[in-house]
Amino acid sequence: MSPLVFLRRIIAWVLPEPLPDAAALRAMMPPRFFPPNSTLPMKVLGIETSCDETGIALYDSEHGILAEALYSQVKLHQQYGGVVPELASRDHVRKTLPLIREVMERAGCQRHEIGGVAYTAGPGLAGALLVGAAVGRSLGMVWKVPTLGVHHMEGHLLAPLLEKNAPTFPFVALLVSGGHTQLVAVEGIGRYKVIGESVDDAAGEAFDKTAKLLGLPYPGGPEVAQLALAGTPGRFTFPRPMTNRPGLDFSFSGLKTFVLTTVQAHTNNGVIDEQTRADIAHAFQEAAVGTLMIKCRRALQQTGMKTLVIAGGVSANTRLREELSRMAEQENSTLHYPKLQYCTDNGAMIAYAGCLRLLAGQHDDLAFHARPRWSLETLPPL
Ligand code: KG4
Ligand code: ZN
Repeated sequence: MSPLVFLRRIIAWVLPEPLPDAAALRAMMPPRFFPPNSTLPMKVLGIETSCDETGIALYDSEHGILAEALYSQVKLHQQYGGVVPELASRDHVRKTLPLIREVMERAGCQRHEIGGVAYTAGPGLAGALLVGAAVGRSLGMVWKVPTLGVHHMEGHLLAPLLEKNAPTFPFVALLVSGGHTQLVAVEGIGRYKVIGESVDDAAGEAFDKTAKLLGLPYPGGPEVAQLALAGTPGRFTFPRPMTNRPGLDFSFSGLKTFVLTTVQAHTNNGVIDEQTRADIAHAFQEAAVGTLMIKCRRALQQTGMKTLVIAGGVSANTRLREELSRMAEQENSTLHYPKLQYCTDNGAMIAYAGCLRLLAGQHDDLAFHARPRWSLETLPPL
């Protein structure tokens, strides 16, 4: 289906009036250099649909987040043990517009008050991204406001700036999600240098795979962390991969093999006892957290920066926060992280990142943006 036909279908869905024909639709499109509403204050609608959460939020440049809603597809995917992309896209189609209506109503916000629409353009699942992009672009056209495709990891990276005690530039950011593990030297918005990243599995992926091996449901991160609380420290010790050689890259796939072989060695007649499962979860978490901590210390030392920011789903992990704050103190540095609800995917971080860029005059052209793969380093600086 061509993007134009897809847009027409979405617009037909949004508008109570009959579907406009192609000529009328073209006339509704903002001109190529649509003048952005760069006057303060600005209200931006944020739409996040990159994976298995539909996140919608309304950000006001003066008053912060006005309202937000999040719908998690966890129950839908749990029976398959992971995200099924086609089911994810379809569920975003069902949920995005009702959630937008809900957020607008809760904020008491009328269409004409919206100054721009930001949606996640990538990285993520192609079909899921297309839903948010189509809805975001369509709303921008019918409301005649500029739209912007936001980089999902920039959303995570800037989420700690929504906190009262926000970090100031420059800082080192550790981005740890289900799809990414990156260390980024951040000089300002859009001034990102990736100084380390995983050569295989992401940290969140390692948690999820470990959970599966331990018979825990998806998404595994919080489940492994919970089980690890009952673990016996020191019964198993897993290696801290790639820490005994220089550099800031990570590797987590070997840890999964350690978990697998330990599970196999302690399974009798298909059964593994509860305490052993907890001890393995504990050993895995200590190794993953220890590895992240060692690389963050190295990144602070190498860059000479004194502020560390963590973001992304795994930044919700209590052990990781404990270890990093202990290390930051030793390095005379400060640690910042988002509130728990902004560690995992949400609409607020997209509305916020989008608002900063829209206010600076950046916005989409007429192309349709959904980028399953997209490097942070290619983003324009503000
Ligand atoms: O940022 P996010 O919500 O989605 C992506 O952009 O991928 O991150 C999801 C990842 C999942 O792998 C999940 O297991 C992990 O974050 N996660 C955690 C915790 N909460 C979520 N991992 C460890 N400990 C947690 N408490
Ligand atoms: Zn994410």
